[in-house]
Amino acid sequence: MWGRGISRFTTFASIEKPINPSVKIEHNQLLIDGKFVDAASGKTFPTLDPRTGNVIAQVAEGDAEDINRAVSAARKAFDEGPWPRMTPYIHGLTLPADGSYHVQTLHEPVGVAGQIIPWNFPLVMYGWKIGPALACANTVVLKTAEQTPLSALYVTSLLYEAGLPPGVLNVVSGFGASAGAPLCSHMDVDKIAFTGSTETGQRILEMAAKSNLKSVTLELGGKSPFIVCEDADIDQAAELAHFALFFNQGQCCCAGSRTLVHERVYDEFVEKAKACASKRVVGDPFQKGVQQGPQIDEKQFQKILKYIRSGVESGATLEIGGDRCGSKGYYIQPTIFSNVKDNMLIAQDEIFGPVQTILKYKDLDEVVRRANATQYGLAAGVFTQNLATANFLSRALRVGSVWINCYDVFDAAIPFGGYKMSGQGREKGIYSLSNYLQIKAVVTPLKNPAWL
Ligand code: NAI
Ligand code: MG
Repeated sequence: MWGRGISRFTTFASIEKPINPSVKIEHNQLLIDGKFVDAASGKTFPTLDPRTGNVIAQVAEGDAEDINRAVSAARKAFDEGPWPRMTPYIHGLTLPADGSYHVQTLHEPVGVAGQIIPWNFPLVMYGWKIGPALACANTVVLKTAEQTPLSALYVTSLLYEAGLPPGVLNVVSGFGASAGAPLCSHMDVDKIAFTGSTETGQRILEMAAKSNLKSVTLELGGKSPFIVCEDADIDQAAELAHFALFFNQGQCCCAGSRTLVHERVYDEFVEKAKACASKRVVGDPFQKGVQQGPQIDEKQFQKILKYIRSGVESGATLEIGGDRCGSKGYYIQPTIFSNVKDNMLIAQDEIFGPVQTILKYKDLDEVVRRANATQYGLAAGVFTQNLATANFLSRALRVGSVWINCYDVFDAAIPFGGYKMSGQGREKGIYSLSNYLQIKAVVTPLKNPAWL
């Protein structure tokens, strides 16, 4: 069974001979107070190419001392402000109150924001985090993920070239325990925004509570249901269910990782899902036409293979895939399990890889109960042509995003975040601003009001 079907992947050869991109890595230091500097300890750590496991850069490894330097720079920049807000649309209100008072609210920046991002979308997560923080005139210390430190350094260098005042946005590369934790525990950081695993999110809340009660927003894991109703357009549903799971090698917090299909269309759906997976082009992402590259690192790669073994051992039907692709790099075959039961590990845990699990259901009440029977509540897909069904499901599902007959629609205006253990707070758009604002009530007596 293992290794079966490798020849299906047309770009298999390109995995063995990776393309050498003409990218020059210009920045590998920390970016503190508008300047590139080495880590205080002088230490560096390697960035690996997931296609080969080879080192592509050595990057300065920040620790608690560097976090202190960056927080001081951010505090200084904040205190020396104000620097201009990016949008004129952030403002308070004038409120009616009992008595002879003029009452207004001021929307003020929170102060120094600590931000910790993951490796699965290093640039998107950077944008989602710094956007609202800077729009609300906060200053920032951002810690990148240890697997992907380079893009944030590069883009921040462009912002400084464009005139960002020193200290407003500091970027520290480093590991979770030695750089992330000191940021979360720092007494002079006013807020933490985090995207990553639920486990680390819980630790972050604890660190915030034990230090200065800084406010925390969290965007965490998921096990999002993708519900295919009996009246759905099955071709479209199969294609979008494929995209919902396999996009970005399955490394998405909101991956549609429990495909729940009505029993009347189940067999047809499984065949179509298999057809989509068999056409997926796996290979070197620098190669034109490739749809699926390697997983981010050895740890994730091994974790996914372990879940695949667990799926087989627990009795699910392996329809396609099930093994690595090639003999080097972290490539995994697009994999599908059918006849998956709710109590199997592959139906409960966040696999974070190209492994689709297809489950069968009988009626809407049952699917709502099962879709909600998880600690997570990030997103859901609903596939139906019946308006009443769409309205019923969109209200019954305990998740932060419901995509109806679409998936992964991520316009900047649309809020994103989780119910339950998928997080707290919303990112993007107007709702994200509240994470970065203090509301001050200002009350002034009215001595001789013309009216009240
Ligand atoms: P992680 O949550 O440990 O790492 C994400 C970020 O948190 C990184 O920048 C890391 O350095 C930092 N971090 C780790 N420990 C920390 C600590 N004690 N204090 C402060 N910061 C800390 O996730 P990891 O280990 O990379 O992946 C494990 C699993 O988490 C994945 O297999 C996946 O299931 C899930 N995950 C979910 C993501 C999402 O988008 N919601 C993103 C990345 C991972
Ligand atoms: Mg971790």
